[in-house]
Amino acid sequence: MDSDQSNLPKHVAVVMDGNGRWAKARFLPRLVGHHRGVEAARKVIKACSKAGVKCLTLFAFSSENWRRPADEVSGLMSLFMTALEREAEGLIRNQVRLNFIGDRSAFSPALQDKIYSVEQQTQHCTGLQLLVAANYGGRWDIVQATQQMCLAVQQNTLNPEQISETTFTQYLSTAAYPEPDLFIRTGGEQRISNFLLWQLAYTEFYFSNKLWPEFDEQALQEAFNEYAKRQRRFGMTDDQLQTSAGS
Ligand code: IPE
Ligand code: IPE
Ligand code: MG
Repeated sequence: MDSDQSNLPKHVAVVMDGNGRWAKARFLPRLVGHHRGVEAARKVIKACSKAGVKCLTLFAFSSENWRRPADEVSGLMSLFMTALEREAEGLIRNQVRLNFIGDRSAFSPALQDKIYSVEQQTQHCTGLQLLVAANYGGRWDIVQATQQMCLAVQQNTLNPEQISETTFTQYLSTAAYPEPDLFIRTGGEQRISNFLLWQLAYTEFYFSNKLWPEFDEQALQEAFNEYAKRQRRFGMTDDQLQTSAGS
C-alpha cells in the first residue's frame, strides 16, 4: 500500500454490498457469499491498519436487513458469532480496537455478550478503531439521539435553547469518532441504504462495481487514490482554498 500519508482519509465508512450476487453468480447459497464477505472485511481491516487509517466503519447489517428470508438472517447471526470468536485474537494482535454501533438489543443475549466481550478485550488497543454497524440505521441513530436529548431536558441536564449541531453530534452513536472522510460502496448500487445519514454530510462518495468478496487491498488503494484527487470545499470556493493552502 502507498506510504504517502497526505490526503489519506482518517475515517473510511464502507457499505459492504454484493455478497449475495457474488454467490449467485457461482450457483452457491447466499450465505457462502457472506462468509467470503468476512474474509474481504479481514483484508480491508488489515490494509487500513497498514495504511494508517484511524477509523474504519463497516456496515454489516442494516435495520432493514431483518426483512430478508429467515434462514439468511439466522445464518448471518451465526456468522457474526463465529466471526467474533475467530477474529478476536487477530484484532488484538493487530492492535485493532473494536466497537459496535446500532441497536444491539435486538440480538440474542449470547451474541450481545460476545459483542461486549470482544469490545472489552480490544479496548486497550491503540491502532485502527474499527466500528461495526450492526442493526444500524441512520434514522434510528437520529431518533435515539433525540430521545436521549429529550430525557436530558426532562432531567434538567440539557437546556433546549442550547441544543446545537455539536450537541446533537454528541448524542449520536458515533459521538466518539470523527466524521467519515471517505464513503465506499461496493456492488454497483449508488445509494446510502440508511447508513450514516447525519455523519455523511460532507463525506466524499466512491462507488465500486466490484462485489464485496472481490474487494481487496488494490481496490482499496484505488479508492484512496481517487479520494486524494478530490477537493473538499465545505461550502467555500476553489479560490479561497488555494489562498489558504498557499498562506
Ligand atoms: C451485503 O451483501 C451484506 C449484507 C447486507 C448483510 P448483500 O447480501 O446485500 O448482497 P447482494 O446485494 O444481494 O448481492
Ligand atoms: C446495505 O446493503 C446494508 C449492508 C451492506 C449491511 P443492502 O443490500 O441491504 O441495501 P439495499 O437493500 O440494496 O438498499
Ligand atoms: Mg445488497
